[in-house]
Amino acid sequence: MTHPAIQKAHDFARGHFGEDGSGHDWWHVHRVWNTAIYLAEEEKANRTVVEIAALLHDVADWKLADGGEEAGMQQICDLLTDEVDGKELDHVCAIIRSLSFKGAGVATPMATLEGKIVQDADRLDAIGAIGIARAFAYGGNRNRLIHDPDKPPVMHESFEAYKKNKGASINHFYEKLLLLKDRINTDAGRKMAEERHRFMETYLDQFFREWEGTPLD
Ligand code: ADP
Ligand code: NI
Repeated sequence: MTHPAIQKAHDFARGHFGEDGSGHDWWHVHRVWNTAIYLAEEEKANRTVVEIAALLHDVADWKLADGGEEAGMQQICDLLTDEVDGKELDHVCAIIRSLSFKGAGVATPMATLEGKIVQDADRLDAIGAIGIARAFAYGGNRNRLIHDPDKPPVMHESFEAYKKNKGASINHFYEKLLLLKDRINTDAGRKMAEERHRFMETYLDQFFREWEGTPLD
């Protein structure tokens, strides 16, 4: 039987992210959940904590949460408080707080195996064919250009600078997506990241050849 907290997290996430058009819709959460389960089995982690954290991982995200990160964390606490013990709740909350990418030059360490797994699952969904789709969905949702050759990528050294960034979506590949392969925590995750990384390189190569508007060789 499904743990009641997993069921609750599932139902909450499904309602919460249903209409999102920025690449953070319910199916993003669903893919991260599936990948996190796979990695938890491979790495022999606590599946209950992994599943709950994966299902709720974007609820308090700085890019998305109405009312900010703290309001999102409070929603998570309210949802889980009768379903899990204090230790598990603290573990889930600590994972969700540390998860997000915060700039090329900003470390985002994860203390526990369960946290490393959920972070890997989230990052795997940001790369490869789906990652490409999500980057442009996010850009469109925030009115960003696809590409602006006059504004090169910036390697952000602080979370503040990364947050303020309004660059074109192609820059996001250089500022984040191509860096993720080397920031994956688990061996099983790294294997999955390699293929997805290569696909993005192929995609970018073709993108820039088409950009010139002349026949491809
Ligand atoms: P994280 O918490 O690590 O940022 P998310 O689940 O919130 O992970 O998803 C991040 C995704 O949002 C990125 O992989 C990308 O698809 C999109 N995104 C975020 N910032 C930008 C941006 N500046 N340009 C294009 N896409 C972006
Ligand atoms: Ni996510």
